[in-house]
Amino acid sequence: MAPNQVDTPRTKKVFVKTWGCQMNVYDSTRMQDALEGDGYTPTADIEDADLVLLNTCHIREKAAEKVYSHLGRIRQLKDRRADTERPLTVGVTGCVAQAEGEEIIRREKAVDLVVGPQTYHQLPNIVAKALSDGPQVETEYSVEDKFEHMPLATKKQVRSRGVTAFLTVQEGCDKFCTFCVVPYTRGAEVSRPHAQIIEEAHSLVDAGVQEITLLGQNVNAWHGGGPDGNDMRLGQLLYDLAEINGLNRLRYVTSHPKDMDDGLIQAHRDLDCLMPYLHLPVQSGSDSILKAMNRSHTAQDYVEIIDKVRMARPDVAISGDMIVGFPGETDEDFEATMEIVRRTNYAQCYSFKYSMRPGTPGAEMENQVDEAVKDARLARLQALLRQQQTAFNEACVGKTIDVLLEKPGRDANQLIGRSPWLQSVVIPSHCGHIGDIVSVEITHSLTNSLSAQPAGACN
Ligand code: 5AD
Ligand code: SF4
Repeated sequence: MAPNQVDTPRTKKVFVKTWGCQMNVYDSTRMQDALEGDGYTPTADIEDADLVLLNTCHIREKAAEKVYSHLGRIRQLKDRRADTERPLTVGVTGCVAQAEGEEIIRREKAVDLVVGPQTYHQLPNIVAKALSDGPQVETEYSVEDKFEHMPLATKKQVRSRGVTAFLTVQEGCDKFCTFCVVPYTRGAEVSRPHAQIIEEAHSLVDAGVQEITLLGQNVNAWHGGGPDGNDMRLGQLLYDLAEINGLNRLRYVTSHPKDMDDGLIQAHRDLDCLMPYLHLPVQSGSDSILKAMNRSHTAQDYVEIIDKVRMARPDVAISGDMIVGFPGETDEDFEATMEIVRRTNYAQCYSFKYSMRPGTPGAEMENQVDEAVKDARLARLQALLRQQQTAFNEACVGKTIDVLLEKPGRDANQLIGRSPWLQSVVIPSHCGHIGDIVSVEITHSLTNSLSAQPAGACN
């Protein structure tokens, strides 16, 4: 132990701030779990923390700048604590940590550790080393190693997070879309072994989890050796997970059109517990832009996949991601994007202005689109998407659907749950308890949520 560390009975506290995707949310929970084994309890109050971790995202513009400005404020807290019994330790984790590495410590003296996404299992050791030896930077890749060494969350830890859980099954990406930093920050595609995933799912369900969302940057590229040694794809993994008693809902995100195979589509037809929801980004409706993006599929391929999925599961809600203003995007290209959105009819869709990411091929392209043009295209696209989402929600009014109750509502007499199509549903609290799946009739719809009344007698 370092000479200036005093062993006091007070437990140490860790505060984690998370930016970005669901995988970062999952990673934050796993980091907290690892640190809890080392005597840290989580806190939601940064002033109360001994260790602050910023789990960062690098996907779009100004990500790093946001982190630096946040760190500036944390430096003031650290300075105030400098000569007290509770000095503050500060860490940057996640994709900005991976991309910027040592530069973070050079620019911001308040930072004690910089840890990339594949090294979380070593976090307690790295924190201890930073306390004894000074700033640490750890950004080496070893995804397999991480999963092998991360302990399962305890029942108490799982329960503290509610009745839904994320489970990473695949990490990294080999697709190299020309706009995207993920292949550089998360590394090559790696699938977790089948047995490890089944074990983690069982332990989540044993602790009361009702719904699991499988995570991967390219989740439908998951493949692995099954129990009989055969190579398996995601569809088969879903059939195996569906066998777990008490696991009532399954989801998976994010998928790539190229890996949307027939086995996976068949799972949507066969498995009641696989929720009728598919997040399948297309990014653009123009074939020449898709080619420049290195997406390796055409707009027509995407349309055909969506048709097949709808044939297998007619009530499926389709969600997606779109980018406007990729280098070289003309008015006609953008109209093709509007057209594929009309054709797909999204229940929900995220849309972004193209943002140059250093180190990606897109950033080197000469025909960058004017910011004002991007703004105008994004506004038109978002108006159409809002219309589609509102229409999808309105079509739910009058339907009787199952809702998984997840948390208390804003008012004491309300609970909030999720529909099969991932909409938030507000219901009267006397209709069930958190963790119940209740049948309700949808009475009202808004753009971002639904409200409902019990479908049958409820007391
Ligand atoms: N600019 C804009 N949007 C991007 N995305 C990824 N990289 C960029 C970028 N450089 C979007 C894509 C992806 C989602 C997670 O973020 O639509 O599917
Ligand atoms: Fe990025 Fe494309 Fe890989 Fe998705 S498939 S993570 S957009 S490179």
